Amino acid sequence: MRDQTGRTIDYLRLSVTDLCNYRCRYCMPEEGVCKRAHQDILSVEEIEEISRAAVACGVKKIRLTGGEPLVRNGILEICRRLKAIPGLEELCLTTNGSLLPELARPLRETGVDRLNISLDALRPERFSDMTRRGKLEDVLSGIFAAQTAGFECLKLNIVLIGGFNDDEIPNFVKLTEAHPWEVRFIELMAMGPCACWDKSCFLPGSEVLRRCPDLRPIPGEGVARRYKRPGARGAVGLISPVSHDFCGECRRIRITADGKLKGCLHSREEIDLRGLHGWRLENAIRQGILQKPQRHHLAERPSDTPRNMNQIGG
Ligand code: 5AD
Ligand code: SF4
Repeated sequence: MRDQTGRTIDYLRLSVTDLCNYRCRYCMPEEGVCKRAHQDILSVEEIEEISRAAVACGVKKIRLTGGEPLVRNGILEICRRLKAIPGLEELCLTTNGSLLPELARPLRETGVDRLNISLDALRPERFSDMTRRGKLEDVLSGIFAAQTAGFECLKLNIVLIGGFNDDEIPNFVKLTEAHPWEVRFIELMAMGPCACWDKSCFLPGSEVLRRCPDLRPIPGEGVARRYKRPGARGAVGLISPVSHDFCGECRRIRITADGKLKGCLHSREEIDLRGLHGWRLENAIRQGILQKPQRHHLAERPSDTPRNMNQIGG
């Protein structure tokens, strides 16, 4: 359906847990989040019911997010149930990749269509430093496991951080020469732990073009501006929520792991969907779509949301 400003909303980002086995410095505090009581998090049944209602309201694509969606108990059952919803055209998942060596194949078998995998550094020590507990080799094995399991067009998400990984831009772009992946640089958004970071950490996506002037624009879909190095198998995407906000073309709504619908990642507004069924549930989703804020204000000030990214799902 359309929101008040005429945008078609057909894409739901659904967080299935706020827990994560990593602690990326820009996303989560060192101590993690206190594990919520089991009943605070949507059950598999509630996730299915809410997703069916969202599809009835016009959602055609669902992306499962976290925290880290693959640490959620029952993730395969969730995928299986969502995939069976008539009218849902695409089921995707964004992951840190660490559990893909075991889970890539079962995810593919349950019908997940696409994976996005986070990869913020290519140097092993740096990767462990940023994630505070991750091992680069696990994620690289995960990426290859996903490819072997039949996930084509993998997207690799790199949050660009000045003074941290900007010197690796050429190495990331180089990956696209031999691999059919889309390497996507995402501007760091000031929210949660990184809201108070130095200005120099926040680089515009154009920095990638400055460092790799041989990138040529190619037609894009969705929120990424896309480029290709001549002769490369893969592509480069720039996702620039701060310097080139895409609010005018935003097709998304979000649902948090505790069942709150958010029209915008950066707004405080939330609608509690728990306990609602049937037409009441659909009405609440329609209301959330209608009330979707026109835009965020990241170019002027940090995010208005009091939540950390792991509590919304990116
Ligand atoms: N700014 C930009 N991207 C972020 N992510 C998490 N926190 C931020 C932030 N502050 C990214 C993760 C992952 C996706 C879910 O969101 O790296 O790619
Ligand atoms: Fe976990 Fe992703 Fe947050 Fe890193 S960015 S701590 S992998 S949820």
